[in-house]
Amino acid sequence: MARHYPMSSFPNGWYAVSAVSELERGKVLAVRVLGRDLVAFRTESGVISVLDAHCPHQGAHLGHGGIVKGETIECPFHKWCFDAAGKCHAIPYTKCMPKTKKTEIRAYPTLVRQGMILVYYAHDNSAPTWEVPQFEEDTKGNWSEISFAEMTMKAHIYELAENGFDVAHFQPVHGSEENSIELDKKQPFGPELLFSLNLVYPGNGIGRFGKKVGVHVSWRFSGLGIFDNHVTLRDYPMELRQYFFFTPLDEERVRIQVGLRINEDKIKLPQPFRYLVVKMIEKQNIKIMLQNFEQDRPIWENKVFREHPILCEGDGPIGHLRTWMKQFFPQNFISKQSQEVTTEARI
Ligand code: FES
Ligand SMILES: [Fe+2]
Repeated sequence: MARHYPMSSFPNGWYAVSAVSELERGKVLAVRVLGRDLVAFRTESGVISVLDAHCPHQGAHLGHGGIVKGETIECPFHKWCFDAAGKCHAIPYTKCMPKTKKTEIRAYPTLVRQGMILVYYAHDNSAPTWEVPQFEEDTKGNWSEISFAEMTMKAHIYELAENGFDVAHFQPVHGSEENSIELDKKQPFGPELLFSLNLVYPGNGIGRFGKKVGVHVSWRFSGLGIFDNHVTLRDYPMELRQYFFFTPLDEERVRIQVGLRINEDKIKLPQPFRYLVVKMIEKQNIKIMLQNFEQDRPIWENKVFREHPILCEGDGPIGHLRTWMKQFFPQNFISKQSQEVTTEARI
């Protein structure tokens, strides 16, 4: 049977594997993302490491019974020890360490951003050529602690990126009006993509009930795995930062993790009222973020991929986005099988 999505590879880029709060020192986590088994662990000095999960010796999964010993992880099967870079450091029952690179485990480059551990994936195992930038709100302003929620979608990560550019679906699927998109024309071509959206929501949970709300959203895509935005409302003194971590679990499913921070200085109330209002906005906004994906779900989970969609005026700069996305994939990443999928779909 032909696959529902025809891309032959996950896009190169940074992906969230776990929240940092789930990996305190000395802890080991089994993680399954990007169609592979990984193990994440944190050494006693606090170094975070993400390795391929299976031991090069006889194949045990380090995330199931492996333990942190100092700066290494010890395999549960015969106690070989590997450091954060995946190098075998000790084999307890031999004086003659095998002299082969094959004892090393693939270690993934890691970064921490907004409370998430990110790993770099490249289809050819090449080293990262870029990093997800630091976030300005970490050092400037008075932003609330990040809060998270997550869901899983049966979709390809490629389709998720198109969602933000596909302005013609905003009204029928999400109910917003006067939708427009503007690309940042001065930006150089690279792993980041900057654009902004203007929309008007019909007062469905943002602002006063029943009153339309104008929303301006400045977006930044960092590859296809990490999106963040800056939201301001036309008639309310509110400023939000939203974060989207899209991680392919396998070829057909993406884990969506959303995060939110609120500019507390915009809420001119004394404590404890300010705290309560921040919590209320947080709860409501996370609900809206998830609701938006739920509105997309019946479309995404049942659509086919169009390699050459018929686009018309008002569709948004989807062609521009597709050209930008190509940099993260190998050449000819639409597999032969896809020809079947798209040809079938055209009939
Ligand atoms: S399988 Fe890991 S030490 Fe033997
Ligand atoms: Fe959508």
